[in-house]
Amino acid sequence: MNTDVAKGRASSKDTVRIAAISDLHCRRDSKPWLRPVFEQIAGEADILVVCGDITDWGRAGECEVFLKQAAPVLQKIPVLAVLGNHDVESGKQDELVEQLLSAGVSMLDGNSLTVGGVGFTGVKGFGGGFGKMAVQPLGEGAVKNFVSESVLEAQKLEAGLSALNQKLPRIALLHYAPIRETVAGEPLELFPFLGSSGLEEPVNKYAATAVFHGHAHAGSLEGKTSANVPVYNVCASVLKKRFPGRPPFFVLDVPVGSGVSPQTGCRAPTCPTGCAGGRSEGSPHRLPSDVFTVVSSRPVKNERGFS
Ligand SMILES: [Fe+2]
Ligand SMILES: [Fe+2]
Repeated sequence: MNTDVAKGRASSKDTVRIAAISDLHCRRDSKPWLRPVFEQIAGEADILVVCGDITDWGRAGECEVFLKQAAPVLQKIPVLAVLGNHDVESGKQDELVEQLLSAGVSMLDGNSLTVGGVGFTGVKGFGGGFGKMAVQPLGEGAVKNFVSESVLEAQKLEAGLSALNQKLPRIALLHYAPIRETVAGEPLELFPFLGSSGLEEPVNKYAATAVFHGHAHAGSLEGKTSANVPVYNVCASVLKKRFPGRPPFFVLDVPVGSGVSPQTGCRAPTCPTGCAGGRSEGSPHRLPSDVFTVVSSRPVKNERGFS
């Protein structure tokens, strides 16, 4: 089901500013530092997306900590989220989802919705590995089940992407990575458990505008799929390492409105999907000094001078 949701400032601008954060791993006794981070997000962004591992053990008390710290955001802008593997650790994920939904968080698990002219879908995802080294469904039943779970998550992602208006920008939220590039930095032995190329296929097929994921705490911030869709690993630990001393959230400005290309929903000057859209005037984007900003397909280093 594709539901249209709009509140806050999201529906009244040519550019929708999406803040992304992941892997907060809230525990019952932690995270007072999150409050000012969420206050800043509420002041800067139109939408917040959370890419899983909201909790450390998937417990209601931990989720309560997250919701308490995130209150400034929840009161002001739409918040969308997927679960992570830690959120299902206790087998209480259904209760966790109800808790988050009751607090106003839009939970994505193969469903889709549109916020302020931007389409969103998401799934937790699963492991399986990447490219030619991906785990194959051969031999033991346990291996086949492992691969089957990965395929199921990819199918849900495809269903979500296919339900979105293809004329609008489309954002995919994942916990597990869809490409190898953004898990680089983790031990090689962990790669099959950090993501799956199966998630990349629907992203390419439906020419998503961008993908956010988490899970790979020691991974890399940016990458692109084989079809040049930008992928961002927004783990708090990745952002803290890449941008020391700055609040660990990531910002993407997505152009929306009358100039949106009918082919891809994108009017970025150098669209990652190769669409016919194009902006002839100068940059419409502002670059706040205290948040990470990526403008459409441009890499962070081009905008902020990072190498
Ligand atoms: Fe995590
Ligand atoms: Fe995780």
